[in-house]
Amino acid sequence: MRHLKIIGIGAGDPGYVTLQAIEQLNSVDVFFVVDKGEAKSDLLHFRSEVCGRHIEHDNYRTVEIPDPPRDLSGPEYGEAVRSWHQQRVGRWEAVMTAELKPGQVGAFLAWGDPALYDSTLQILQEVRARGRLEFDLELIPGISAVQALAARHQISLTQVGRSVVVTSGRQLVEQWRGGTNDVVVMLDAHCSFLQLDDWSTSIYWGAYLGTEDEILIAGTIAERGEEIRRARDQARTQKGWVFDTYLLRAQP
Ligand SMILES: C[S@@+](CC[C@H](N)C(=O)[O-])C[C@H]1O[C@@H](n2cnc3c(N)ncnc32)[C@H](O)[C@@H]1O
Repeated sequence: MRHLKIIGIGAGDPGYVTLQAIEQLNSVDVFFVVDKGEAKSDLLHFRSEVCGRHIEHDNYRTVEIPDPPRDLSGPEYGEAVRSWHQQRVGRWEAVMTAELKPGQVGAFLAWGDPALYDSTLQILQEVRARGRLEFDLELIPGISAVQALAARHQISLTQVGRSVVVTSGRQLVEQWRGGTNDVVVMLDAHCSFLQLDDWSTSIYWGAYLGTEDEILIAGTIAERGEEIRRARDQARTQKGWVFDTYLLRAQP
């Protein structure tokens, strides 16, 4: 039997790597790294830094799994994602079969927490369901960007008598129209908050949370919305990529 672990390593601050994650890192024979091209090589670099800093031996290897190219710009977004996803399942299965021996421990490092907008778990479950590669699976939680955002702005995500929803930029407008008034938004490439009707809504925005490039802006959309858009565009141009997360909170 092979053993696989998905280890959450936090959303950017080296201090977000938990004691449990460190213990698990030290048990790994092979780290699998999904190569998504150069744009976010800072994130790959952070992962190897985490290993270098916390693993107390040299008996581990790193194996890259190149990501299949994806074109999600067409009208059939759902179908394109499904087809791309299936290609990944096949590649992961082939690489893990070739590179991990029975009895060995393999691991994927998940940015933030593996349970939030991370497809590693789903892909590994699908590989296992195909029945060609047997392994057991363990998940190690991490500090997500959502928790980092709340901590850095010193806000509670939950308010008495209200719910909070975590969603993507793509779903925001629909979600908001449905009457959800406390929404955490991730994966938003288009500052979708500017599409909301009510600009008296508060926004707590954070980019590169927990890192030395962190940017925090808070206020109403009317006061700070355009400033956030400019800061985001500028940061993206400078670094080549941007990770940002925000909480929207309607006036009570
Ligand atoms: C693929 S998801 C991964 C989320 C991750 N599993 C987590 O728990 O935070 C990537 C999105 O997470 C958010 N994100 C991750 N790290 C971030 C950070 N350091 N600062 C701000 N947002 C971040 C951004 O919305 C980004 O588009």
